[in-house]
Amino acid sequence: MDAMIVLLPGDGIGPDVVASSKRVLDVIADNFGHRFSFNEQLIGGAAIDATGDSLPQSTIASCETCDAVLLGAVGGPKWSDPNAAVRPEQGLLKLRSVLGVYANIRPVRIHDQLAGASPIRKDILAGVDLVVVRELTGGIYFGEKTRDASSASDLCVYHVHEIERIVRVAAKLAAGRRKKLCSVDKANVLETSRLWRDVTDRLMAEEFPDIAVETLLVDAAAMHLLSRPSDFDVIVTENMFGDILTDEASMLAGSLGMLPSASLGDTLRGLYEPIHGSAPDIAGLGIANPCGTIASAAMLLRHSLGLEAEACAVESAISAAIASGARTADIVSDGESPISTTEMTDAIIRGLS
Ligand code: IPM
Ligand code: MG
Repeated sequence: MDAMIVLLPGDGIGPDVVASSKRVLDVIADNFGHRFSFNEQLIGGAAIDATGDSLPQSTIASCETCDAVLLGAVGGPKWSDPNAAVRPEQGLLKLRSVLGVYANIRPVRIHDQLAGASPIRKDILAGVDLVVVRELTGGIYFGEKTRDASSASDLCVYHVHEIERIVRVAAKLAAGRRKKLCSVDKANVLETSRLWRDVTDRLMAEEFPDIAVETLLVDAAAMHLLSRPSDFDVIVTENMFGDILTDEASMLAGSLGMLPSASLGDTLRGLYEPIHGSAPDIAGLGIANPCGTIASAAMLLRHSLGLEAEACAVESAISAAIASGARTADIVSDGESPISTTEMTDAIIRGLS
């Protein structure tokens, strides 16, 4: 098939991990007889430096007309002055909003060989296979903000239709898995959470009666994710809770660098990015873990291009590289020596042939 993929390397380690993923996609295209064209565009701090804008119009135009977007990371100390008028993160939030990708799917799969890289006990990690479905275009990230000399505010708003559509995405996912949905909120304190809970309970009873629904308050969920992670199948939650819980959940997999994500809306066009940030502390060193972004490219093949076998080939190649002992610095345990981003990518590509 022919596909047009926009690459948004962004900042910090973003360009390295996106370059690795492009290499993998090129090999997939060769092996399976596809033609992928790539269009690289600016976002984040790199875009601010070049144009003054964190999401230039040319980037928006390309993203709105392609088949899928693969993004590295945005942000860094150079642009992090809290009083700055434009910030890299605004570009990412605007892109999510412009593309209408309200459903952020963050699978947490464990490679058994990485148990030693996780701070969590091996017996607790056994059988972990969960997906967090994070609402991505609403809530406190997008509400009105105010700031004066003595106070500041961030408004959190959710509409019924925003809750319904994200819960449906999560429930459909659960229907194809272990049929368990856990909805996370803070309904003992927040009005938006009370609405979230009411809508979820009603919709699940009406539309998905054979899915088991559990509801957890977010503070308890943070604890249960570490004490009994293998109990979870699909977790659905609002924007900020999902942001926080998925960084926590990444520790189950051994490193933030391992986790991919797919952001989807009502069309096939999706935005794919690792859940990690720009990692300014290791930017430019060539040691970043490309697995999260390469696994995001696998999700791109699956969800936007409908190429399931190709997606599985990439995921198997990542597993094979890990099984062969390939480790970037973030996932080494005692006695193992780390390899570079390029060497890790080479190891993954070896598993594709
Ligand atoms: C993520 C990131 C972003 C978010 C930042 C970079 C704005 O942490 O994708 O999880 O908070 O959504
Ligand atoms: Mg985050």
